[in-house]
Amino acid sequence: MNLKIAALAGDGIGPEVILQAKKALHAIGLVFDHEFVFEDAFVGAIAIEKTGNPLPEQTLNLCLNTDAVLFGAIGDPKYDNNPDAKVRPEQGLLKLRKSLGLFANIRPIKPYASLLNSSPLKKEIIQGADFIIFRELTGGVYFGEKKLNEAGTIASDLCEYSEEEITRVSHLAFKSAQNRRKKLTMVDKANVLETSRLWRRVVKKVSENYSDVALDFLFVDNAAMQIILNPRQFDVLLTENLFGDILSDEASVITGSIGLLASASLGKTNALFEPIHGSYPQATGKNIANPIASILSAAMLLEYFGLNKEAKKVYEAVEKAIEYNVVTEDLNTDSKFGTNEVGDFVANFILSKDDLYFKIDNIKIGQSTIV
Ligand code: IPM
Ligand code: MN
Repeated sequence: MNLKIAALAGDGIGPEVILQAKKALHAIGLVFDHEFVFEDAFVGAIAIEKTGNPLPEQTLNLCLNTDAVLFGAIGDPKYDNNPDAKVRPEQGLLKLRKSLGLFANIRPIKPYASLLNSSPLKKEIIQGADFIIFRELTGGVYFGEKKLNEAGTIASDLCEYSEEEITRVSHLAFKSAQNRRKKLTMVDKANVLETSRLWRRVVKKVSENYSDVALDFLFVDNAAMQIILNPRQFDVLLTENLFGDILSDEASVITGSIGLLASASLGKTNALFEPIHGSYPQATGKNIANPIASILSAAMLLEYFGLNKEAKKVYEAVEKAIEYNVVTEDLNTDSKFGTNEVGDFVANFILSKDDLYFKIDNIKIGQSTIV
């Protein structure tokens, strides 16, 4: 398969982690005989610096004309410390999601067996947890009308949803549940919000097409509690934009590090793959950022194109890295491995035909043949 992939590294640790994802994809290309061609473009704070625009026209055009987008991270303290800044890095990502029509954001949550002790939550609670959050990504309060009165004393953000916006993401979530444990939990605030009541009506209607999937409902405040109280109860969680943003960061605690969580953002014709973590500016250039979320996002990209064997190989490589403790310091405070070394291990594992080479005593990190 030939794929043209837009690589939007973005800010902070984005360039470092995306490089590791590229290495993994390059290795997959060599082993499975595919050609992945990357085209780099600016987005976020770096794009503002270069062009004054967080999503330059050129970047958007590239994304509209490639098979998929691999996204790094976005954000810079300069803007975080100045919430009044009119032009902001995040606008680049939001405009990109909207322009590409990426209405469904898919975030899988599953702790690795060897990392059960890395979570601040008790092992007995998180063991066996395995669920996916389907977050609506182009509607709701993120994109509703924003107002501020002239005196700057009253502000509002409109939360708006249409039946169509709810329907299309719901179908994807139900289909996913059909291929899993056949349970879908819709998370809302239907005791207070009109939009949530619409969500419930529409999701109930969509559910008629999926009689094999059990549907239940949770209010978001309760869901926030249930996720850390008993995460095993969930299979597929479906929710609106803002609730999904908040719940997925919370759920990352189950896995031990937000540096492990990947996501796919899908539309009708476009797809973007990105870690759920931010730009982690304090770590920029230090070779300490965890590249696994970015590498796993590349695996989700492979799955999206039906390259399941290839994706499996990437998952296996990541599992080995974790099993052998070839991880960054967020997972092992004494780790002597950095972003690059984890990326090299994963790429080398993919390239290696002989698993035995990867016996722990034999690991010679930094000798990748493809860097
Ligand atoms: C995410 C991020 C973004 C969001 C920010 C960077 C705008 O937190 O992808 O979860 O809120 O959607
Ligand atoms: Mn977020």
